Amino acid sequence: MRHLSIGTGTEISRIGLGTWQFGSREWGYGQSYAGQEARAIVRRAIELGVTLFDTAEIYGFGRSERILGEALGEDRESVFLATKILPVLPVAPVVEQRAVASANRLGTRRLDLYQVHQPNPVVRDGTIMRGMRALQRVGLVGEVGVSNYSLDRWRAAENALGSRVLSNQVQYSLVHRSPERDLLPYAESAGRVVIAYSPLAQGLLSGRYDSGNRPVNRVRAGNALFLPDNLDRAGDLIATLRVVADAHSATPAQIALAWVIHHPAVVAIPGASTVGQLESNVAAADIELTDDQYEALNEASARFRPVTGPAALPRLLRARFS
Ligand SMILES: NC(=O)c1ccc[n+]([C@@H]2O[C@H](COP(=O)([O-])OP(=O)(O)OC[C@H]3O[C@@H](n4cnc5c(N)ncnc54)[C@H](OP(=O)(O)O)[C@@H]3O)[C@@H](O)[C@H]2O)c1
Repeated sequence: MRHLSIGTGTEISRIGLGTWQFGSREWGYGQSYAGQEARAIVRRAIELGVTLFDTAEIYGFGRSERILGEALGEDRESVFLATKILPVLPVAPVVEQRAVASANRLGTRRLDLYQVHQPNPVVRDGTIMRGMRALQRVGLVGEVGVSNYSLDRWRAAENALGSRVLSNQVQYSLVHRSPERDLLPYAESAGRVVIAYSPLAQGLLSGRYDSGNRPVNRVRAGNALFLPDNLDRAGDLIATLRVVADAHSATPAQIALAWVIHHPAVVAIPGASTVGQLESNVAAADIELTDDQYEALNEASARFRPVTGPAALPRLLRARFS
């Protein structure tokens, strides 16, 4: 496993583990996943050198934090534990109380990275950062992060905090490349981190799904990328992933992850539905793409034009009710 050295006590693994799936009904993985597989995934991740574990108070309404905390057990001290606060009423006392609640569910006395899950559209970051500063002062929070922030708002958050906001967790994959415009250059030049969520486009980039074999769960039923038309359109990109994968004796999912972390300021937090997926995702950290392969993937990704936004809405509704 490769790690990032950016002055955090525990170094951050380039491939981490996303745990939205743990205990969340919308992924539909069921009770045995929440009760057993999730724990096994965490234990195997630790064995393989994963240090970055990402959760949020909202995932499964606290269940993800509980499952993760229990699974980490005595290994808590050797990992870089990240959770998130939904900034509803983000005044300092509320922020402090919510951090304590997350820490209790995780069974820890320190949140290595405490992230604002998304920008509050009406309350500026000065308010929430007062709470974050207090939490850092008493040692309950190590680093502060944000998520789904524009560059301007990330920098405004840093001004408000008065020190670095280590990371911005955003959607970044071969089918969602907008962070390349300004977030990645900023992170690289300023010594910050972009944490890539949905790096496999929620499984689309594994090549496992097509218009005749669509995944069934609420998350992906609401994701326009899984419309039959878009799955057909993704065929060319998946084919390119397969060609590069063959050259590395790897899988399309591994190449999709290797592409994401090719950028030096990016770490990825794929979710996993099985221990096997976790193992495969971790192994992707060791794949070095050649310049030609990286370019071929960039070009295939640029050719992929899914139907999204308002144009996708009627199709999503039709797909949902058909
Ligand atoms: N900050 C935010 O707003 C935000 C938003 C979304 C996610 N996140 C974080 O990012 C994490 C990851 O994002 P995500 O779960 O949305 O998407 P993702 O990581 O792109 O996709 C995860 C899904 O892909 C499939 N998969 C994983 N590894 C695979 C492999 N090796 N081969 C084949 N299929 C594989 C699994 O689904 P199947 O096996 O069922 O196909 C798995 O549940 C989340 O857990 C969460 O921590 C944050």
